[in-house]
Amino acid sequence: MPSLADIERILRLSPVMPVVVIEEPALAPDLARALLRGGLRVIEVTLRTPAALDAIEAIARAVPDIAVGAGTVLKVEELRAAANAGATFAISPGATPELLEAGVHAPIPYLPAVASASELMQGLAHGYHCFKFFPAGPAGGPAMLKAFAGPFPQARFCPTGGITPETVGTYLKLPNVLCAGGSWLAPADALAARDWQRIESLAATAAAART
Ligand code: 3PG
Repeated sequence: MPSLADIERILRLSPVMPVVVIEEPALAPDLARALLRGGLRVIEVTLRTPAALDAIEAIARAVPDIAVGAGTVLKVEELRAAANAGATFAISPGATPELLEAGVHAPIPYLPAVASASELMQGLAHGYHCFKFFPAGPAGGPAMLKAFAGPFPQARFCPTGGITPETVGTYLKLPNVLCAGGSWLAPADALAARDWQRIESLAATAAAART
């Protein structure tokens, strides 16, 4: 069973976590390879399409050098489904008491999300110290994360939601930010066109984002 510290190791793999929506599992390994060539070592496949678990399985099998996680985990049973598919971590856009409880004992490291101080206190009370901050832009952006650092110096974050190539650098400069997530690295039109070169180039820019 993973320890709560293992998610921190995953969040430190790359400065940016690509958040992807995959409709065709057959495209998933090529997508993962393009991100890896660009220098990113982690990918979050959101459980928003019927193809997501197959896509995770395909990446885990064909591209073992990238850490593939399941995103948009809304129910406890999805933690096990993600692990069974080969995901090495799981992420939610929020949290429920059930997920916070189950995540501690999950077969893979789990990252719950917060958007407020009260949610953060609930997560800390369960023993978590790493959180997705979602939706980062609308929920207060870098100013909110700076404010969290006062009462919650032990908390670390992966802000996601509304982050752009232009704003990611501001987040990454914050000492309590381990990485930032975003969907801009795998645009739907680039995936549809199988434009792996463009995705590699977006990944390369993101990989160099932490200065
Ligand atoms: C997520 O699930 O983390 C978000 O959908 C990603 O947000 P973005 O599309 O604004 O990057």
